[in-house]
Amino acid sequence: MPESKKGHGPFSRRIAVLISGRGSNLQSIIDAIRDGRLEATIAVVISNRADAVGLQRARDAGIEAVCLHPRDFGDRDAYDRAIVDLLRDRRVDLVCLAGFMRLVSAALLQAFPHGILNIHPSLLPAFPGLDAQRQALDHGVRVTGATVHLVTSELDNGPIILQAAVPVLDDDDVDTLSARILVEEHRIYPEAIRLVLDGGWSVDGRRVRRHTR
Ligand code: GRF
Repeated sequence: MPESKKGHGPFSRRIAVLISGRGSNLQSIIDAIRDGRLEATIAVVISNRADAVGLQRARDAGIEAVCLHPRDFGDRDAYDRAIVDLLRDRRVDLVCLAGFMRLVSAALLQAFPHGILNIHPSLLPAFPGLDAQRQALDHGVRVTGATVHLVTSELDNGPIILQAAVPVLDDDDVDTLSARILVEEHRIYPEAIRLVLDGGWSVDGRRVRRHTR
């Protein structure tokens, strides 16, 4: 959606959400749209796992929910090309990864330049990859949080749209810390999607700059 970045519009506000499991971030996006905090349409929800609870959340909200199982495709590129075909068919212009436990390949990245978002449960660049909350506890940081960023070919390393800080408490374990981070995830992901869809921003090196209009 290159036009929207410059705030030129008009552009569609059709998004897709890619999930692998619980789908609580998907739910936060559904709720934000329903409450009028986010003006967007979720055109399709895609999961790589048939047992993802988020698929049912989507169906309950009247949203098309599709499982594309990797074993039905030859390799990562073929899988991602199938995703691209589906997204193009549904006229999606922003892809939101929400607990989607797969690396995205060049096929998907090239189809949506600066058009794929991810949410990660740490203050990136600290603690990328799996078990970010466990990594934060093991490292002994006093503050961690959540990050929404643009997806690039490097894992959890794209330009940052929004972050929220969460204190680590003395008696925290992975579950209590994850739960408090999740509250912030649910707050900032819809807000970040709104910022991106509203346009008027560009990427300058690693920095996402918003232009005054
Ligand atoms: C979230 O913690 C998110 O930051 C991470 O995976 C988890 C997904 O949770 N990428 P949910 O499926 O949205 O409930």
